[in-house]
Amino acid sequence: MKNKRFYIETYGCQMNFADSEIVNSILLEEGMKPVGDAESADVIFINTCSIRENAETKVWNRLREFRSLKNSRDNLTVGVLGCMAERIRDQIIEQEQLVDMVVGPDAYRDIPRLLQEVDDGRKAVNVLLSLEETYADITPVRTSGNGVTAFISIMRGCDNMCSFCVVPFTRGRERSRPMESILNELRQLSDQGYREVTLLGQNVNSYKTENADFTTLMDHASRIDPEMRLRFSSPHPKDFPEDLLHLINERPNLCNYIHIPAQSGNDDVLERMKRPYTRQEYFDLIDKMREIIPGLALSTDIITGFCGETEEEHNDTLSLMARVQYDLAYMFSYSERERTLAHRKFEDDVPEKIKKRRLTEIINQQMEIQEELNRKEIGREHLVLVEGTSKRSDDQLCGRTDTNKMVVFDREDYQKGDYVVVQIHDCTSATLKGKALRKSSTREYYGDTVLSH
Ligand code: 5AD
Ligand code: SF4
Repeated sequence: MKNKRFYIETYGCQMNFADSEIVNSILLEEGMKPVGDAESADVIFINTCSIRENAETKVWNRLREFRSLKNSRDNLTVGVLGCMAERIRDQIIEQEQLVDMVVGPDAYRDIPRLLQEVDDGRKAVNVLLSLEETYADITPVRTSGNGVTAFISIMRGCDNMCSFCVVPFTRGRERSRPMESILNELRQLSDQGYREVTLLGQNVNSYKTENADFTTLMDHASRIDPEMRLRFSSPHPKDFPEDLLHLINERPNLCNYIHIPAQSGNDDVLERMKRPYTRQEYFDLIDKMREIIPGLALSTDIITGFCGETEEEHNDTLSLMARVQYDLAYMFSYSERERTLAHRKFEDDVPEKIKKRRLTEIINQQMEIQEELNRKEIGREHLVLVEGTSKRSDDQLCGRTDTNKMVVFDREDYQKGDYVVVQIHDCTSATLKGKALRKSSTREYYGDTVLSH
């Protein structure tokens, strides 16, 4: 394998990007060389997502593009990694002749052997799911990031079985990575100058090892480097731990931002989705969060047009979103996935046109709410962690507030990785615009001992 050039293209969620960094590390260990584009690679890996149909469609299209590259070149290997592996391995290898190897999310350690099989003239497949694999001993190699913010995966799989979701089938059973290995990785990132880390899991509040639950992990993690901010994604509303809320309020480097997916605002839909909480329980949780953490920013995931969703049920989602006033929302129309409970038990009966219209309604309402919330930020100061140059102009920097809002401001002499106090003077629904006042630090800005920020 030595000296073979590889290229990894990643689709889907942050977890997939974190997985690609693990694969990166495994391939570098083999002496392979990363390249930045498919055309100059000997091996192309595509890390896939199957959460919604359009994610899969994108991957299929890309694979067809790679096929023409394959036709024009000898010895180009194409491998499919991740969530689509199990579901479509037969199709991929036999029917379309697009792909040489298929590797499921728990089989990345096997990639060197599988590459050898391909070199020996065979198609190579490993889609076995594991009850234990957490890649705890593999240090991800972060080649494509900004050097300031990073992700760490703290658990894999999901046992929740929401009826719409294919993740439990593609990524397998829930398992947590040992706390020490997570803390070690945080220490390394801190030494390398990273300033913000997001801890990732399909369902982080069920993180559990022999010696820690999720709050214990966050407690230890937040003590590693007071100048390193921590976020996490995603928790489940059914069992969000209250002690974690107090911890977030106490620790300046635990961000005042929680992504807490509601999925729907109607009790009957929530029941069909197998989300074990009611609209009222969700509101109670949000109220408690805001009571314990003043100034908390919230975001959510919403699915519109789920099986049997009526107009009233849809209106309940709109009214839930209006009541909560999310700072950010990820909104999707329902996409039926094979093997899920919804696929087996319900009919995907909301017409595409109605799904689209409902999605537009919730997006439009959300944009108005966001713009209104952002307007309230005008005049306020925020501690912004600079992530890099703004997309629009080289003369401007961009970074995030503790509450996860993107801020753009004139560069002056500030740099990537700086904490800068910025005063907000304008906004859109997606971005705040401000003026840098001074460089600072988490401890200087919030104080060493403050109990609330
Ligand atoms: N259709 C539409 N959206 C889905 N999600 C998960 N499964 C589906 C599906 N079948 C959304 C949920 C989840 C987010 C990651 O993706 O909102 O929280
Ligand atoms: Fe899917 Fe539900 Fe698990 Fe999230 S919690 S990954 S939506 S099954």
